[in-house]
Amino acid sequence: MPTPNVRVFPDLAALTAAAKQFVLEQATGAIAQRGQFTLALAGGNTPKPLYESLVCADTPWSRWHIFWGDERYVPLDHPDSNAGMAFQAWLNHVPIPKNQIHPMPTADADPQTAADRYEQILRQTFGIREGEVPSFDLILLGMGPDGHTASLFPHTAALTVGDRLITVGNKDGQPRLTFTVPLINHTRQILFLVTGANKQTALRHIFSGTTDPHLYPARLITGNALWFLDAAAAEGVVANA
Ligand code: 6PG
Repeated sequence: MPTPNVRVFPDLAALTAAAKQFVLEQATGAIAQRGQFTLALAGGNTPKPLYESLVCADTPWSRWHIFWGDERYVPLDHPDSNAGMAFQAWLNHVPIPKNQIHPMPTADADPQTAADRYEQILRQTFGIREGEVPSFDLILLGMGPDGHTASLFPHTAALTVGDRLITVGNKDGQPRLTFTVPLINHTRQILFLVTGANKQTALRHIFSGTTDPHLYPARLITGNALWFLDAAAAEGVVANA
């Protein structure tokens, strides 16, 4: 992997403030150049204050198009729903047109059907044909202590899916929906938001560039990625953190 582009912040509040500024700058640039801003969201605790902080942002919300990079296979009103969290924290409170907010479908009996459905939504929204890969303006990603990102978990079949945009992930036998590695790597900008000392080991392996990527899947993300870490995650990983 190329040398990672990393910024370290003293705490979650500082990371959140910088992430808010970064997201809004990306939105402004994308809207100026292409008339819209396509953003894929992450789950987890780290981005929640970012979502909350965006409620008061001054931006042309009608140009925003929201997707999710992964989802637990639960209904939107389930406490585990990544989309449900983002709606409560942010999306219910800003005037993004509802038809521009695309939670992953989770009602089909077979999660593969839902994955296919979401892939069709991406193809229609981006106006791309079978075989083409869209370029999001920005994909937000988290990372678990095991090095997973989106729902790309260690040693799972989802890691090697190269001919799809969306696939079915697997966490401890439970299905997830997830962006595939080629889709994530094709984006204009990736922003990892990683906090907590329990991420140090995975970060060390991922930044080393030599570890088996199937053991630490975030290492498969070789696209244009910026990493925002808090000091706890960066300690012993990044020089002078
Ligand atoms: C999941 C979680 C997970 C999360 C990371 C980072 O679906 O299992 O959402 O993917 O994004 O574990 O989580 P934190 O930001 O809470 O550390």
